[in-house]
Amino acid sequence: MSFNWINPENFSINTLLLMDKWIIMYFLGLGKTTVGHYANEEYRHHLGIVLKYNHAIQWYFSEKCPEVKKRVDNLVKNTQNNLLQDDIRKSEMYILDAKDSFVVYVYPEIMEELDYIKHWKAETLISMADFHNKIVLDIGSGTGRLAFSVINMVKELYAIDPVDRLREYLKYKRDKLGIKNMRILDGTIEEIPFPENIFDIVMSGHVMGDDYDKEMEEMTRVAKNGGYIITCVGEDNSKREENKDMIRLGFEYTYYKSKLGGDIYNYKKKIIK
Ligand SMILES: C[S@@+](CC[C@H](N)C(=O)[O-])C[C@H]1O[C@@H](n2cnc3c(N)ncnc32)[C@H](O)[C@@H]1O
Repeated sequence: MSFNWINPENFSINTLLLMDKWIIMYFLGLGKTTVGHYANEEYRHHLGIVLKYNHAIQWYFSEKCPEVKKRVDNLVKNTQNNLLQDDIRKSEMYILDAKDSFVVYVYPEIMEELDYIKHWKAETLISMADFHNKIVLDIGSGTGRLAFSVINMVKELYAIDPVDRLREYLKYKRDKLGIKNMRILDGTIEEIPFPENIFDIVMSGHVMGDDYDKEMEEMTRVAKNGGYIITCVGEDNSKREENKDMIRLGFEYTYYKSKLGGDIYNYKKKIIK
């Protein structure tokens, strides 16, 4: 599914050369949780064309991520020769559109302009907990929507994200703003790069959900006794109900109607060890 986040006509297929190994796994149906687009024959057809006619991408995917080499070779082998440039470009645009969420990860300035970030107000997060003088972790920080909104209150903030280009962007923004109490590291919600009992607040937005129990266990591990785990999403137009998994895990929620029409549920849980 495409999120309609980009106009693929404006993007070079070389965008794929900026992507991290774990994203390449998703392109070839070997992502952490889902086969995704790869189950679709039409998607595999277009990906085969992209790989066959873009040797650098074919080479990069196989070298950066040996796990996908066999699939890359098979797709290329089953793709016809002598296609016209117009048909190749159509396939490139199909793939860029299908994977638009990953395209915006490597163009953070474009990601920052998406509705869910642009129309969101920092007060939503600030009203959820007392951030003053706290040690805070932002998981899957992205462009730092949550992190930058509380940075002036917290004692220290640690932002983790598995996308190379997003971490570079976060560092650029932090340094441009002269912020001294923010550290930016590689890491995932499944493997948080910190020891036990460090954080007063562990927060995230649009990151939980692949494996709630495992994610909760890992976030609880790094939270202090008496600390909070928070998820705070951006503005959108999605119709939603309360998340049963979050309620099962003991989260409380607040609700409001997004100005973009969506139902926004944010969740918070106090950690008692
Ligand atoms: C939709 S963006 C949301 C960014 C930011 N949290 C926000 O709400 O504005 C999802 C973010 O999660 C990151 N991400 C993807 N998989 C992740 C994982 N397994 N653990 C932590 N972060 C992840 C992505 O790199 C991306 O920055």
